[in-house]
Amino acid sequence: MRLEGKVAIVTGAGRGLGKGIAKKLAEEGASVVLADMNPADEAVKEITDNGGTAVSYTVNISEQEEVKALVNFAIEKYGTLDIMVNNAGINRDGMLHKMSKENWDLVIAVDLTGTFYGTQEAIKYMREKGYGRIINISSGSWLGNIGQANYAAAKAGVVGLTKTAARENAKKGITCNAICPGFIETDMTSKLKEVNDGAAWESMISRVPMGYAGKPSDVGNMVAFLASDEASYITSEVINVGGGMIV
Ligand code: NAI
Repeated sequence: MRLEGKVAIVTGAGRGLGKGIAKKLAEEGASVVLADMNPADEAVKEITDNGGTAVSYTVNISEQEEVKALVNFAIEKYGTLDIMVNNAGINRDGMLHKMSKENWDLVIAVDLTGTFYGTQEAIKYMREKGYGRIINISSGSWLGNIGQANYAAAKAGVVGLTKTAARENAKKGITCNAICPGFIETDMTSKLKEVNDGAAWESMISRVPMGYAGKPSDVGNMVAFLASDEASYITSEVINVGGGMIV
């Protein structure tokens, strides 16, 4: 129970990585606000059935006022905010020469600007408190990936945002780190099983040295560590969780 008494927000927690992260934080004793565009009631039930403390909150992270209201909600509901996990994200893949401006704008608005809102709103409160843990979910794709110009640009932006937030707030008791998952089995990636009779999925697996897709809990374990006191001297880092996929 490394996070006993702590309060966390996890965005995009209705399913996938966010749900895995929220479950792990709750197992470690944190009270968790599961924030998602869609109600996260099922994920909340899994946590509370297991003895954890959690609540669902509906938010669109690409709307600044909604993210402000989310942070205020967590503080009113559980008394404070210690851990902010900016996980919600989308992809709209396509080759750059065919990419619509609409798909560019959408991915930047959610993955980068949404993470900016979450980081900024949490940090405003955490600076006053003199304590905080910001954990932003980037992606191995930030290094560049065919078909993901919008996503790679947004996720590289998340790295720059995270490192700047870390440096600006290092003397305020706040750590700020990014995690780059490699290939984790979620609804986002399972779409590949339908492409070319599963060949697209197999092609991704072949790029993972460990030979299999990761689980949301693999990322949750890293988030819990970064949120804990054991990681108090770790800030401005970009940590891969990818079975050796990201070099
Ligand atoms: P997912 O598509 O399975 O789940 C994403 C969740 O975010 C959904 O519950 C969705 O409702 C929510 N969401 C989407 N847009 C939102 C918005 N504007 N406001 C609030 N909630 C919103 O995706 P997955 O795989 O769980 O991904 C989570 C994060 O991890 C994303 O940032 C993704 O880019 C990142 N990631 C995932 C990898 C993977 O292999 N699955 C690899 C690298 C990064």
